[in-house]
Amino acid sequence: MTRPYAPGEREGPSGYRPFGGAAPLEVGPPPERPTFWTRALGDPPSRYGERIRWRGDEAWRFFDPTRSKLAAALCRGLPETPFTPGEDVLYLGASTGTTVSHVADLVGPEGRVFAVELSPRVLPRLLLLAREYPNVHPILADVRAPASYFGDIPQVSVIYQDVSQPEQLAIAQENARLFLRSGGWILLALKRASLFGKAAERGPDVGLGLGFRVAYRTGLEPFHREHAFLAFRYGEEILPGAKGAEPGRSRPRARAWKRAGR
Ligand SMILES: C[S@@+](CC[C@H](N)C(=O)[O-])C[C@H]1O[C@@H](n2cnc3c(N)ncnc32)[C@H](O)[C@@H]1O
Repeated sequence: MTRPYAPGEREGPSGYRPFGGAAPLEVGPPPERPTFWTRALGDPPSRYGERIRWRGDEAWRFFDPTRSKLAAALCRGLPETPFTPGEDVLYLGASTGTTVSHVADLVGPEGRVFAVELSPRVLPRLLLLAREYPNVHPILADVRAPASYFGDIPQVSVIYQDVSQPEQLAIAQENARLFLRSGGWILLALKRASLFGKAAERGPDVGLGLGFRVAYRTGLEPFHREHAFLAFRYGEEILPGAKGAEPGRSRPRARAWKRAGR
């Protein structure tokens, strides 16, 4: 994970500031609520009609919180993202690639996004995205049967899941078991009613089971009604009571997560 931007540390032209160290992610100046932007990897830069802001040759794409649950989670205070240049990501429930395209911006040309989608209806748009974004690898498959794409995907650092399936926890667990490296992250967007009722906001007792730890959770209102967003850390070394229980989380960073968590 990259470090969140500390106010006053560095400020770009017109008040746009880096958010998350090495990743091409910026946060715009308030007036009302923060806006997030990713530097476009593809050309033409606009993928779904989103606003584009130019700085010299660089195109920055508005990361629309009403279109993407990841952008909504950032607006709701997600303190950092695990998407850094060069990382491999398994994306479950890619749809037409709206959020996939921003994740692809963040991991950059050295990273890869393996984008799994069930519906052949949306696949053409995902394939179109992959033409402009060579780091996006569309896979037509059912995420409930990860064995079907086992040979196509390496060990990844992050799993992002947004599938609105009743068995979404089991899906995350099984995909993590097969593809997520120890110490990796699972970001989960879920409809509150679908499985947990309201429990997603109850506390860290809501989880994926042994080896997973909730690092952050939030509701996504007003952008996505009745949705919650959870970030889990995964791995042997974060089993409760294990030595070095939170790898890579320095005290200041742990404090930042605590402050941001609700
Ligand atoms: C809410 S949409 C995803 C939106 C997308 N994550 C974004 O932000 O741009 C959910 C997607 O999951 C897909 N989906 C649902 N069940 C699935 C399954 N079992 N395997 C793969 N994809 C699935 C749906 O076809 C749909 O495109």
